[in-house]
Amino acid sequence: MDKRIILALTGASGVLYGRSTLQALAAENVEIWLSISDAARLIVRDELKVNLDERNPDIEKLAGVKGVKYVPPHALDAVIASGSFPVDGMAIVPCSMSTLGAIASGHGTNVIHRAADVALKERRPLVLVPRETPFSAIHLENMLRLARAGATILPASPGFYHGPESVEDLVDFVVSRVLDALGIDNALIRRWGG
Ligand SMILES: Cc1cc2nc3c(=O)[nH]c(=O)nc-3n(C[C@H](O)[C@H](O)[C@H](O)COP(=O)(O)O)c2cc1C
Repeated sequence: MDKRIILALTGASGVLYGRSTLQALAAENVEIWLSISDAARLIVRDELKVNLDERNPDIEKLAGVKGVKYVPPHALDAVIASGSFPVDGMAIVPCSMSTLGAIASGHGTNVIHRAADVALKERRPLVLVPRETPFSAIHLENMLRLARAGATILPASPGFYHGPESVEDLVDFVVSRVLDALGIDNALIRRWGG
């Protein structure tokens, strides 16, 4: 394994972005610690047509990848809740406004919020992929607060200059930027060549 990354899926529309990030990290030989919030589990059911068990979800069924270390969202004693557990970064894909607000306020209630809090305090890469439209002033202030605290706010807003022909091509654009922000080499998209 080259790197160790925490990935969380939270309850915004666009859980496909999260699944594709999981697959892309696995393809780059990353050790993945995954958590899926309660709301994300419902949206996975609606948008990806996969039913996941809360404590022991079938990640191979979700994404076709093996060896992922799963952390239930309410396992507050999980190793990823501690700054003494070394990781190379964390991404929340997609990141709901609720999770964003919890992290921005420092008032976390699950292990996803806590792991993000740890990433900030340990000054490790934290990549948040919000999916909401339009944004309220509260959303924008929370994002600014997090950006100032060191997080990368990477909205699910794909470019169109790489010649996308499918939904997957658009998703890959965002996923490629997430891996870039985590410092993980990838060739998911054709890069802008000027
Ligand atoms: C079908 C569905 C779609 C949703 N889409 C979004 C969304 O795109 N963005 C968002 O911020 N919240 C969205 N929500 C609301 C969140 O799921 C809700 O705030 C939830 O409490 C988030 O919990 P979590 O942050 O722990 O995942 C959606 C909820 C449902 C049921």
